[in-house]
Amino acid sequence: MANAQTPNSAVVLKIAADQVAAKVSPTLYGLMTEEINYSYEGGLYGELIRNRSFKADAIQQIVHPDAYDPAKNYPAKFPANTAPKFWSTVGGAKIALDTNTPLNGALNVSLRLDLSSAAKNAPAGVANGGYWGIPVKPNTTYHASFYAKAQRFSGPLTVSLESADGKKVFAQAQISGFDAGWKKFNATLTTGGDLTPSKENRLVISTTKPGTWFNHHGTIWLQQVSLMPPTFKNRPNGDRTDISQILDDLQPKFLRFPGGNYVEGDYFNERFNWKETIGPVEQRPGHRSCWGYWSTDGFGLPEYLGWCQDLGMEPVLAVFAGYVLKRDYIPAGPTLAPFVQEALEEIQYVTGDATTHWGAQRVKDGYPNPFKLRYVEIGNEDWFDRSGSYDGRFAQFYDAIKAKYPNLQIIATTKVSSRTPDLVDDHFYRSALQMQSDTHHYDNVSRQGPKIFVGEWATREGSPTPNMNAALGDAAWLTGLERNSDLVVISCYAPLFVNVSPGGMQWRTDLIGYDALTSYASPAYYVQKMFNLNHGDAVLPVTVENLPMRDWQPPAPRRGGVAQTNLPPVQQVPTLFFNATRDTRSGVIFLKVVNAVGSAQNVSVEISGLAGVAANGEAVVLSAASPEDTNSNSEPTKLVPVTTSVDGLGRQFSRTFPPYSVTVLRLKTE
Ligand code: AHR
Repeated sequence: MANAQTPNSAVVLKIAADQVAAKVSPTLYGLMTEEINYSYEGGLYGELIRNRSFKADAIQQIVHPDAYDPAKNYPAKFPANTAPKFWSTVGGAKIALDTNTPLNGALNVSLRLDLSSAAKNAPAGVANGGYWGIPVKPNTTYHASFYAKAQRFSGPLTVSLESADGKKVFAQAQISGFDAGWKKFNATLTTGGDLTPSKENRLVISTTKPGTWFNHHGTIWLQQVSLMPPTFKNRPNGDRTDISQILDDLQPKFLRFPGGNYVEGDYFNERFNWKETIGPVEQRPGHRSCWGYWSTDGFGLPEYLGWCQDLGMEPVLAVFAGYVLKRDYIPAGPTLAPFVQEALEEIQYVTGDATTHWGAQRVKDGYPNPFKLRYVEIGNEDWFDRSGSYDGRFAQFYDAIKAKYPNLQIIATTKVSSRTPDLVDDHFYRSALQMQSDTHHYDNVSRQGPKIFVGEWATREGSPTPNMNAALGDAAWLTGLERNSDLVVISCYAPLFVNVSPGGMQWRTDLIGYDALTSYASPAYYVQKMFNLNHGDAVLPVTVENLPMRDWQPPAPRRGGVAQTNLPPVQQVPTLFFNATRDTRSGVIFLKVVNAVGSAQNVSVEISGLAGVAANGEAVVLSAASPEDTNSNSEPTKLVPVTTSVDGLGRQFSRTFPPYSVTVLRLKTE
């Protein structure tokens, strides 16, 4: 519990505009991403068919490190005679997974569809309801495709986009020409103008012809059944437009991928094995995500790069470093060498030109230009590895990467002593008051050691997406990161995405929410947008008089997952947070003020070291009536920043900051 204390005298902020306390990192604000909460499958990735490759039922082999061979593709196995998850039958059709009729070595199972019940008035087929629905919008063209082979059946099949109850058909196409060999079939489905956007829909593939030959009925096998909507910037195999737009509006400078825990996997053969995520999508085997569901890897390494290209972000590449979440590791030495080699090749895939082996593969995958890469992260959260193996593993990766790519900066995921990393990645998941009590975290950290990457941070209040109180915790925290961004050169919130449909969430506070049809940004997102779009290149020194404080009882520490009985001493935490930066070219000063409590607070501002400050400027304000207020799919814009013109500014002015608010004042200077 926290109690606001009213200060006896007015709060005064004194800004020394002719001094530079630190340089602001131009790449401070970026994104962190991994396959969690249906981030790509059922999220950013355009694909609308769930379990398109029928491998969601796969049982992956669990491989002990001693027997593990990184060069081997460990095949998934399937329970016999089961119908695939997320598919249903239409009419009297019978379906089963068939491991005897693979499309290829990667997609080594298919859907067998027995057509014997099909008749003129009784279509038989299969249906897929997508990721908690399939979005249907007016005047929209969807691209359907699948691989098929048949016995005693040449067609036609009808591909139809229809309501979940089958009563409304929005678009359909007929496909013929099936025979005994696997072939790819395509159809274009365009909806009319007279429909209301909806998600309670399905894709149906069916026929009214049973197919016959000497009293035997027809069978058809399907694989890689896909339905793609229009994608952001029309990128093939690309991304959902609404979510991409939300991200583009944030103007992120970099993308940390592919994890997080996703880069590690629970077991060795469930790591992010990048070589199995490139090339044609039908050649990618897919794998189980450590967050408990199947990833087709249709969103693989090339798609991460496509995302970077679409949004103008710099990749921050995390490589698998020999440690998995079930606490197995591969010790430094010869057994780790293939993984180091794998990382070097991955870097070549990202940065190499067409004359290099892996650069040429990237060109083939649709990305002719090498990507600029500055940062490579070795593993993820290796403080979990209690064996102490990280120091040696880090050194082996560090030496090999620096030898081949001396300009790359190497990020360690925890402290190491074997080498001096260029950056260390710190993670913070906390309550709003914990964030607010620690805004000076980096103020006194030595500037002689490695730089800092705050690779995951979030105030975890509100679910599935953060509420205003979390946004206030984040904003206070960001005043500290920005003030210290000579040291903290890159930072990103995590997790980025959540599919808010029932069962879609594995992590309870996530920046951006969506279902199959709609998406929204949380107040925490708007805080990041306000900060990223409103900062200068120089941090100005700010001193404060009469800073209002409140009492805060920090939670009991936890040991071995158990809360201890001895509470730490009560702390004093400010109720106001602030920083000031200046754009040295335009002269504009960005003053940020966070009022974390439910009463308005008046602040006097005194700016020295300048000839003048214009009387008129702008204020961008995000505020809420209650700290629990939030955005959602049904109220996507309940809390959004509002920009207004302000006057009465100058070298000295006072302003009242509303309850529960984050404000950026843009001050023009002379
Ligand atoms: O962001 C969710 C998870 O939190 C990340 O995958 C992991 O790195 C951290 O523990």
